[in-house]
Amino acid sequence: MTDDAPIGSAKPFDPALFLDPAASGNPQPFYRSAREIGAVVPGPFGGLEVMRRAEVEYVLQHPEIFSSAMEAVDLGQTVPLIPLQIDPPQHLKYRKLLDPIFAPKQMNLLEPDITRLVNELIDAFIDEGSCEFTTALAEPLPSSVFLRLLGLPLSDLDMFLGMKSGILRPTGADPAEMKAAQQATAAEIERYFAEAIADRKRQPREDILSRFLAAEFDGARLTVDEILGICFLFILAGLDTVTDTLECFFAYLAQHPKQRQLIVADPAIIPSAVEELLRWETPVAGVARVAIKDADLGGCPVHKGDHVGVSIGSANTDERALPDASSVKFTRDASRHLAFGGGVHRCLGSHLARLELRTTLREWHGRIPEYTIAEGTQLRYGFGLRQIESLPLIFG
Ligand code: HEM
Repeated sequence: MTDDAPIGSAKPFDPALFLDPAASGNPQPFYRSAREIGAVVPGPFGGLEVMRRAEVEYVLQHPEIFSSAMEAVDLGQTVPLIPLQIDPPQHLKYRKLLDPIFAPKQMNLLEPDITRLVNELIDAFIDEGSCEFTTALAEPLPSSVFLRLLGLPLSDLDMFLGMKSGILRPTGADPAEMKAAQQATAAEIERYFAEAIADRKRQPREDILSRFLAAEFDGARLTVDEILGICFLFILAGLDTVTDTLECFFAYLAQHPKQRQLIVADPAIIPSAVEELLRWETPVAGVARVAIKDADLGGCPVHKGDHVGVSIGSANTDERALPDASSVKFTRDASRHLAFGGGVHRCLGSHLARLELRTTLREWHGRIPEYTIAEGTQLRYGFGLRQIESLPLIFG
Protein backbone atom coordinates (compact mmCIF):
# COMPACT_ATOMS: atom_id res chain seq x y z
CA MET A 1 0.00 0.00 0.00
CA THR A 2 1.32 3.48 -0.78
CA ASP A 3 1.27 6.34 1.75
CA ASP A 4 -1.69 7.75 -0.12
CA ALA A 5 -3.81 4.62 -0.01
CA PRO A 6 -6.81 4.72 2.33
CA ILE A 7 -6.77 2.08 5.01
CA GLY A 8 -8.57 -1.07 3.99
CA SER A 9 -8.23 -0.25 0.30
CA ALA A 10 -5.63 -0.88 -2.36
CA LYS A 11 -6.75 2.10 -4.44
CA PRO A 12 -4.61 5.25 -4.42
CA PHE A 13 -6.25 8.44 -3.24
CA ASP A 14 -5.16 11.95 -4.13
CA PRO A 15 -5.35 14.11 -0.95
CA ALA A 16 -4.80 17.24 -3.07
CA LEU A 17 -8.45 16.85 -4.12
CA PHE A 18 -9.43 18.30 -0.73
CA LEU A 19 -7.94 21.59 -1.91
CA ASP A 20 -9.34 21.46 -5.43
CA PRO A 21 -11.74 24.40 -6.06
CA ALA A 22 -13.87 22.20 -8.35
CA ALA A 23 -14.37 19.68 -5.53
CA SER A 24 -15.27 22.48 -3.06
CA GLY A 25 -17.87 23.83 -5.49
CA ASN A 26 -19.48 20.45 -6.01
CA PRO A 27 -18.30 18.47 -2.98
CA GLN A 28 -20.95 15.74 -2.71
CA PRO A 29 -19.61 13.56 -5.58
CA PHE A 30 -16.09 14.02 -4.24
CA TYR A 31 -17.17 12.98 -0.74
CA ARG A 32 -18.90 9.93 -2.17
CA SER A 33 -15.83 8.84 -4.14
CA ALA A 34 -13.65 9.24 -1.04
CA ARG A 35 -16.13 7.28 1.12
CA GLU A 36 -16.24 4.51 -1.43
CA ILE A 37 -12.56 3.82 -1.05
CA GLY A 38 -12.22 4.25 2.72
CA ALA A 39 -13.79 5.31 6.01
CA VAL A 40 -10.53 7.21 6.57
CA VAL A 41 -8.35 8.66 3.80
CA PRO A 42 -5.11 10.67 3.81
CA GLY A 43 -5.72 14.38 4.49
CA PRO A 44 -4.31 17.25 2.41
CA PHE A 45 -1.68 18.31 4.98
CA GLY A 46 -0.32 14.92 5.95
CA GLY A 47 -2.91 13.90 8.56
CA LEU A 48 -5.97 11.71 8.23
CA GLU A 49 -9.43 12.66 7.00
CA VAL A 50 -12.48 10.80 8.35
CA MET A 51 -15.21 10.45 5.73
CA ARG A 52 -17.94 8.03 6.81
CA ARG A 53 -20.78 8.94 9.18
CA ALA A 54 -20.15 6.21 11.77
CA GLU A 55 -16.46 7.05 12.16
CA VAL A 56 -17.12 10.81 12.10
CA GLU A 57 -19.62 10.40 14.96
CA TYR A 58 -17.12 8.25 16.84
CA VAL A 59 -14.45 10.95 16.64
CA LEU A 60 -16.84 13.73 17.70
CA GLN A 61 -18.10 11.68 20.62
CA HIS A 62 -14.68 10.70 21.98
CA PRO A 63 -12.90 13.90 22.98
CA GLU A 64 -10.77 11.84 25.40
CA ILE A 65 -9.09 10.36 22.29
CA PHE A 66 -9.60 13.13 19.70
CA SER A 67 -8.81 16.47 21.29
CA SER A 68 -9.63 19.90 19.89
CA ALA A 69 -7.08 21.67 22.14
CA MET A 70 -4.75 24.49 21.01
CA GLU A 71 -2.61 22.56 18.57
CA ALA A 72 -5.67 21.62 16.50
CA VAL A 73 -6.28 25.23 15.36
CA ASP A 74 -3.57 27.92 15.57
CA LEU A 75 -4.79 31.34 14.43
CA GLY A 76 -2.21 33.45 16.18
CA GLN A 77 -4.23 33.85 19.38
CA THR A 78 -2.43 33.84 22.75
CA VAL A 79 -5.41 32.48 24.71
CA PRO A 80 -7.17 29.18 23.95
CA LEU A 81 -10.45 29.51 22.07
CA ILE A 82 -13.06 28.83 24.74
CA PRO A 83 -14.85 26.42 24.84
CA LEU A 84 -13.65 24.87 21.56
CA GLN A 85 -10.03 24.33 22.59
CA ILE A 86 -10.84 23.06 26.04
CA ASP A 87 -11.25 19.33 26.55
CA PRO A 88 -13.63 17.74 29.08
CA PRO A 89 -14.05 17.77 32.00
CA GLN A 90 -13.13 21.50 32.14
CA HIS A 91 -15.15 22.11 28.97
CA LEU A 92 -18.39 21.37 30.84
CA LYS A 93 -17.91 24.34 33.15
CA TYR A 94 -17.90 26.72 30.18
CA ARG A 95 -20.91 25.15 28.50
CA LYS A 96 -22.89 25.31 31.75
CA LEU A 97 -22.14 29.03 31.85
CA LEU A 98 -22.71 29.71 28.16
CA ASP A 99 -25.60 27.41 27.21
CA PRO A 100 -28.30 29.38 29.09
CA ILE A 101 -27.13 32.63 27.45
CA PHE A 102 -27.54 31.06 23.96
CA ALA A 103 -30.66 29.00 24.71
CA PRO A 104 -33.52 29.09 22.15
CA LYS A 105 -35.73 31.17 24.46
CA GLN A 106 -33.07 33.86 24.79
CA MET A 107 -32.24 33.84 21.09
CA ASN A 108 -35.90 34.07 20.05
CA LEU A 109 -36.07 37.45 21.80
CA LEU A 110 -33.78 38.70 19.01
CA GLU A 111 -36.21 37.83 16.22
CA PRO A 112 -37.81 41.30 15.85
CA ASP A 113 -34.35 42.90 15.76
CA ILE A 114 -33.02 40.43 13.20
CA THR A 115 -36.17 40.83 11.06
CA ARG A 116 -35.68 44.59 11.04
CA LEU A 117 -31.96 44.28 10.23
CA VAL A 118 -32.61 41.95 7.28
CA ASN A 119 -35.24 44.33 5.91
CA GLU A 120 -33.01 47.37 6.33
CA LEU A 121 -30.27 45.60 4.41
CA ILE A 122 -32.72 44.59 1.64
CA ASP A 123 -34.12 48.17 1.50
CA ALA A 124 -30.65 49.41 0.58
CA PHE A 125 -30.44 47.44 -2.70
CA ILE A 126 -33.90 46.21 -3.72
CA ASP A 127 -34.61 49.12 -6.08
CA GLU A 128 -31.37 48.46 -7.95
CA GLY A 129 -32.61 45.03 -9.06
CA SER A 130 -29.29 43.40 -8.21
CA CYS A 131 -26.79 43.00 -5.40
CA GLU A 132 -23.51 41.39 -4.52
CA PHE A 133 -25.06 39.11 -1.95
CA THR A 134 -22.02 38.74 0.33
CA THR A 135 -21.28 42.42 0.88
CA ALA A 136 -24.95 43.49 0.74
CA LEU A 137 -26.37 40.97 3.21
CA ALA A 138 -24.48 37.81 4.09
CA GLU A 139 -21.54 39.63 5.68
CA PRO A 140 -23.11 42.62 7.48
CA LEU A 141 -26.05 40.65 8.94
CA PRO A 142 -24.26 38.27 11.34
CA SER A 143 -21.71 40.92 12.32
CA SER A 144 -24.45 43.45 13.12
CA VAL A 145 -26.37 40.84 15.14
CA PHE A 146 -23.19 39.93 16.97
CA LEU A 147 -22.24 43.54 17.78
CA ARG A 148 -25.75 44.11 19.11
CA LEU A 149 -25.61 40.95 21.19
CA LEU A 150 -22.30 41.90 22.78
CA GLY A 151 -23.41 45.49 23.30
CA LEU A 152 -20.70 46.91 21.02
CA PRO A 153 -21.32 49.97 18.80
CA LEU A 154 -22.58 49.30 15.26
CA SER A 155 -20.14 51.98 14.10
CA ASP A 156 -17.38 49.41 14.77
CA LEU A 157 -18.78 47.15 12.01
CA ASP A 158 -16.14 47.89 9.34
CA MET A 159 -13.27 47.62 11.79
CA PHE A 160 -14.73 44.38 13.01
CA LEU A 161 -15.09 42.90 9.53
CA GLY A 162 -11.46 43.88 8.87
CA MET A 163 -10.25 42.11 12.04
CA LYS A 164 -12.24 38.99 11.20
CA SER A 165 -10.79 38.80 7.66
CA GLY A 166 -7.30 39.46 9.01
CA ILE A 167 -7.58 36.28 11.08
CA LEU A 168 -9.37 34.01 8.64
CA ARG A 169 -7.77 35.28 5.41
CA PRO A 170 -4.42 36.85 6.34
CA THR A 171 -2.48 38.42 3.48
CA GLY A 172 1.28 38.33 2.89
CA ALA A 173 3.95 37.42 0.35
CA ASP A 174 4.76 34.09 2.05
CA PRO A 175 3.48 31.89 4.90
CA ALA A 176 5.77 33.60 7.47
CA GLU A 177 4.44 37.04 6.50
CA MET A 178 0.86 35.74 6.60
CA LYS A 179 1.42 34.27 10.06
CA ALA A 180 2.89 37.58 11.30
CA ALA A 181 -0.12 39.49 9.89
CA GLN A 182 -2.48 37.02 11.55
CA GLN A 183 -0.70 37.39 14.91
CA ALA A 184 -0.86 41.19 14.66
CA THR A 185 -4.63 41.01 14.02
CA ALA A 186 -5.05 38.55 16.88
CA ALA A 187 -3.31 41.01 19.22
CA GLU A 188 -5.61 43.79 17.94
CA ILE A 189 -8.71 41.69 18.67
CA GLU A 190 -7.47 40.83 22.14
CA ARG A 191 -6.83 44.56 22.84
CA TYR A 192 -10.27 45.55 21.52
CA PHE A 193 -12.11 43.09 23.73
CA ALA A 194 -9.88 43.73 26.77
CA GLU A 195 -10.99 47.38 26.61
CA ALA A 196 -14.67 46.48 26.14
CA ILE A 197 -14.50 44.07 29.12
CA ALA A 198 -12.77 46.66 31.34
CA ASP A 199 -15.53 49.10 30.42
CA ARG A 200 -18.28 46.60 31.46
CA LYS A 201 -16.43 45.93 34.71
CA ARG A 202 -16.65 49.62 35.55
CA GLN A 203 -20.23 49.92 34.33
CA PRO A 204 -22.26 46.72 33.77
CA ARG A 205 -24.93 46.90 31.05
CA GLU A 206 -27.70 44.79 29.55
CA ASP A 207 -25.42 42.89 27.18
CA ILE A 208 -23.68 39.55 26.88
CA LEU A 209 -20.24 40.85 27.86
CA SER A 210 -21.74 42.03 31.18
CA ARG A 211 -23.48 38.66 31.58
CA PHE A 212 -20.13 36.88 31.08
CA LEU A 213 -18.64 38.97 33.90
CA ALA A 214 -21.56 38.19 36.20
CA ALA A 215 -22.00 34.49 35.30
CA GLU A 216 -21.23 31.99 38.05
CA PHE A 217 -20.77 28.23 38.06
CA ASP A 218 -19.91 26.30 41.24
CA GLY A 219 -19.08 29.62 42.88
CA ALA A 220 -16.47 30.48 40.21
CA ARG A 221 -16.56 33.39 37.76
CA LEU A 222 -14.89 33.78 34.38
CA THR A 223 -11.52 35.55 34.36
CA VAL A 224 -10.77 38.33 31.85
CA ASP A 225 -8.51 35.93 29.89
CA GLU A 226 -11.30 33.38 29.73
CA ILE A 227 -13.78 36.00 28.45
CA LEU A 228 -11.16 37.05 25.86
CA GLY A 229 -10.90 33.42 24.68
CA ILE A 230 -14.66 33.24 24.36
CA CYS A 231 -14.92 36.52 22.41
CA PHE A 232 -12.10 35.48 20.10
CA LEU A 233 -13.86 32.23 19.32
CA PHE A 234 -17.16 34.04 18.73
CA ILE A 235 -15.54 36.11 15.98
CA LEU A 236 -14.27 32.96 14.30
CA ALA A 237 -17.24 30.72 14.98
CA GLY A 238 -20.20 33.07 14.75
CA LEU A 239 -19.56 35.37 11.80
CA ASP A 240 -18.12 33.68 8.71
CA THR A 241 -20.11 30.54 9.44
CA VAL A 242 -23.42 32.37 9.02
CA THR A 243 -22.09 34.41 6.07
CA ASP A 244 -20.89 31.29 4.27
CA THR A 245 -24.10 29.41 5.03
CA LEU A 246 -26.22 32.22 3.59
CA GLU A 247 -24.01 32.27 0.48
CA CYS A 248 -24.27 28.50 0.00
CA PHE A 249 -28.07 28.59 0.54
CA PHE A 250 -28.71 31.46 -1.88
CA ALA A 251 -26.37 30.06 -4.53
CA TYR A 252 -28.27 26.77 -4.29
CA LEU A 253 -31.73 28.39 -4.37
CA ALA A 254 -30.81 30.71 -7.24
CA GLN A 255 -29.81 27.65 -9.27
CA HIS A 256 -32.80 25.48 -8.25
CA PRO A 257 -35.93 27.51 -9.03
CA LYS A 258 -38.33 24.63 -8.32
CA GLN A 259 -36.95 24.19 -4.80
CA ARG A 260 -37.04 27.96 -4.31
CA GLN A 261 -40.68 27.97 -5.41
CA LEU A 262 -41.52 25.57 -2.56
CA ILE A 263 -40.28 28.18 -0.07
CA VAL A 264 -42.07 31.05 -1.79
CA ALA A 265 -45.36 29.12 -1.99
CA ASP A 266 -45.23 27.87 1.60
CA PRO A 267 -42.94 29.77 4.00
CA ALA A 268 -43.93 27.29 6.75
CA ILE A 269 -41.51 24.89 5.07
CA ILE A 270 -38.54 27.16 5.84
CA PRO A 271 -37.40 25.53 9.13
CA SER A 272 -37.12 22.08 7.53
CA ALA A 273 -35.64 23.56 4.32
CA VAL A 274 -32.94 25.20 6.47
CA GLU A 275 -32.05 21.83 8.06
CA GLU A 276 -31.95 20.07 4.70
CA LEU A 277 -29.80 22.79 3.14
CA LEU A 278 -27.48 22.71 6.16
CA ARG A 279 -27.15 18.95 5.65
CA TRP A 280 -26.64 19.14 1.90
CA GLU A 281 -24.35 22.15 1.72
CA THR A 282 -22.58 21.67 5.10
CA PRO A 283 -20.89 25.08 4.81
CA VAL A 284 -18.47 24.27 7.65
CA ALA A 285 -17.29 21.24 5.74
CA GLY A 286 -14.88 19.89 8.34
CA VAL A 287 -13.54 20.27 11.86
CA ALA A 288 -10.09 19.48 13.27
CA ARG A 289 -8.87 17.18 16.01
CA VAL A 290 -5.54 15.84 17.30
CA ALA A 291 -5.27 12.25 18.57
CA ILE A 292 -4.04 12.24 22.17
CA LYS A 293 -4.02 8.42 22.35
CA ASP A 294 -3.50 5.63 19.87
CA ALA A 295 -6.80 4.45 18.44
CA ASP A 296 -8.49 2.57 15.64
CA LEU A 297 -11.00 4.10 13.25
CA GLY A 298 -12.86 1.64 11.06
CA GLY A 299 -9.73 -0.53 10.82
CA CYS A 300 -7.38 2.43 10.35
CA PRO A 301 -4.71 2.77 13.05
CA VAL A 302 -4.49 6.29 14.46
CA HIS A 303 -1.36 7.27 16.35
CA LYS A 304 -1.04 9.70 19.22
CA GLY A 305 -0.18 13.09 17.69
CA ASP A 306 -1.93 12.45 14.36
CA HIS A 307 -3.92 15.37 12.99
CA VAL A 308 -7.41 14.17 12.20
CA GLY A 309 -9.71 16.09 9.86
CA VAL A 310 -13.39 15.28 10.36
CA SER A 311 -15.40 15.65 7.16
CA ILE A 312 -18.87 16.47 8.45
CA GLY A 313 -19.88 17.36 4.89
CA SER A 314 -19.17 13.81 3.84
CA ALA A 315 -20.87 12.31 6.92
CA ASN A 316 -24.00 14.34 6.13
CA THR A 317 -24.29 12.84 2.68
CA ASP A 318 -23.34 9.27 3.61
CA GLU A 319 -25.97 6.93 2.19
CA ARG A 320 -24.97 4.36 4.83
CA ALA A 321 -26.74 6.56 7.41
CA LEU A 322 -29.49 8.28 5.39
CA PRO A 323 -31.60 6.76 2.61
CA ASP A 324 -31.50 8.76 -0.61
CA ALA A 325 -28.84 11.02 0.90
CA SER A 326 -27.93 12.57 -2.44
CA SER A 327 -31.40 14.06 -3.03
CA VAL A 328 -32.36 17.40 -1.52
CA LYS A 329 -35.82 17.14 0.04
CA PHE A 330 -37.15 20.09 2.00
CA THR A 331 -39.89 17.93 3.50
CA ARG A 332 -37.62 15.32 5.04
CA ASP A 333 -36.60 15.33 8.70
CA ALA A 334 -32.93 16.22 8.31
CA SER A 335 -32.46 17.24 11.91
CA ARG A 336 -29.86 14.52 12.61
CA HIS A 337 -27.36 16.27 10.36
CA LEU A 338 -23.92 17.14 11.72
CA ALA A 339 -23.59 20.61 10.15
CA PHE A 340 -23.30 22.05 13.69
CA GLY A 341 -20.86 19.31 14.72
CA GLY A 342 -21.66 16.72 17.38
CA GLY A 343 -20.66 15.55 20.85
CA VAL A 344 -19.56 17.97 23.56
CA HIS A 345 -18.36 20.66 21.15
CA ARG A 346 -21.63 20.83 19.22
CA CYS A 347 -22.24 24.41 18.12
CA LEU A 348 -23.14 26.78 20.94
CA GLY A 349 -24.63 29.26 18.47
CA SER A 350 -26.88 26.86 16.53
CA HIS A 351 -30.12 28.48 17.79
CA LEU A 352 -28.87 31.93 16.88
CA ALA A 353 -27.65 30.69 13.49
CA ARG A 354 -30.99 29.01 12.74
CA LEU A 355 -32.83 32.18 13.67
CA GLU A 356 -30.66 34.26 11.33
CA LEU A 357 -31.03 31.75 8.49
CA ARG A 358 -34.79 31.26 8.83
CA THR A 359 -35.46 34.99 9.17
CA THR A 360 -33.37 35.83 6.12
CA LEU A 361 -35.04 33.16 3.99
CA ARG A 362 -38.51 34.29 5.09
CA GLU A 363 -37.98 38.04 4.63
CA TRP A 364 -36.02 37.76 1.39
CA HIS A 365 -38.44 35.41 -0.36
CA GLY A 366 -41.42 37.53 0.78
CA ARG A 367 -39.88 40.48 -1.06
CA ILE A 368 -37.69 38.91 -3.76
CA PRO A 369 -39.22 35.61 -4.90
CA GLU A 370 -37.40 35.47 -8.27
CA TYR A 371 -33.66 35.81 -8.68
CA THR A 372 -30.76 34.36 -10.64
CA ILE A 373 -26.99 34.47 -10.50
CA ALA A 374 -25.58 37.14 -12.87
CA GLU A 375 -24.74 35.65 -16.24
CA GLY A 376 -21.14 34.63 -16.76
CA THR A 377 -20.43 34.29 -13.02
CA GLN A 378 -18.05 31.49 -12.15
CA LEU A 379 -18.77 30.59 -8.53
CA ARG A 380 -15.58 29.97 -6.57
CA TYR A 381 -15.99 28.14 -3.25
CA GLY A 382 -13.40 27.97 -0.49
CA PHE A 383 -12.54 24.68 1.18
CA GLY A 384 -12.94 23.97 4.88
CA LEU A 385 -15.28 26.93 5.17
CA ARG A 386 -17.21 26.91 1.89
CA GLN A 387 -17.39 30.68 1.43
CA ILE A 388 -18.16 31.91 -2.09
CA GLU A 389 -15.81 34.58 -3.37
CA SER A 390 -18.56 36.63 -5.02
CA LEU A 391 -22.28 35.99 -5.48
CA PRO A 392 -23.90 38.59 -7.75
CA LEU A 393 -27.70 38.15 -7.79
CA ILE A 394 -30.11 39.68 -10.33
CA PHE A 395 -33.81 40.10 -9.54
CA GLY A 396 -34.98 43.20 -11.40
C1 HEM B 1 -24.72 28.37 10.25
C2 HEM B 1 -23.83 28.83 11.10
C3 HEM B 1 -22.94 27.97 11.93
C4 HEM B 1 -22.39 26.75 11.65
C5 HEM B 1 -22.58 25.93 10.37
C6 HEM B 1 -21.59 26.37 12.78
C7 HEM B 1 -20.88 25.19 12.87
C8 HEM B 1 -20.20 24.79 14.00
C9 HEM B 1 -19.51 23.53 14.11
C10 HEM B 1 -19.39 22.48 13.02
C11 HEM B 1 -18.98 23.46 15.37
C12 HEM B 1 -18.17 22.31 15.96
C13 HEM B 1 -16.70 22.60 15.92
C14 HEM B 1 -15.86 21.41 16.36
O1 HEM B 1 -16.40 20.40 16.80
O2 HEM B 1 -14.62 21.51 16.22
C15 HEM B 1 -19.31 24.71 16.04
C16 HEM B 1 -18.92 25.03 17.32
C17 HEM B 1 -19.14 26.26 17.89
N1 HEM B 1 -19.90 27.29 17.37
FE1 HEM B 1 -20.89 27.28 15.63
N2 HEM B 1 -21.66 27.34 13.73
C18 HEM B 1 -22.48 28.34 13.27
C19 HEM B 1 -22.84 29.51 13.92
C20 HEM B 1 -22.39 29.89 15.15
C21 HEM B 1 -22.75 31.12 15.81
C22 HEM B 1 -23.70 32.17 15.27
C23 HEM B 1 -22.06 31.15 16.98
C24 HEM B 1 -22.11 32.28 17.98
C25 HEM B 1 -22.30 32.20 19.20
C26 HEM B 1 -21.30 29.93 17.09
C27 HEM B 1 -20.51 29.55 18.13
C28 HEM B 1 -19.88 28.34 18.27
C29 HEM B 1 -19.07 27.95 19.42
C30 HEM B 1 -18.78 28.84 20.64
C31 HEM B 1 -18.60 26.66 19.18
C32 HEM B 1 -17.71 25.81 20.09
C33 HEM B 1 -18.57 25.00 21.03
C34 HEM B 1 -17.76 24.14 21.99
O3 HEM B 1 -16.58 23.90 21.76
O4 HEM B 1 -18.34 23.68 22.96
N3 HEM B 1 -21.53 29.17 15.95
N4 HEM B 1 -20.07 25.50 15.19
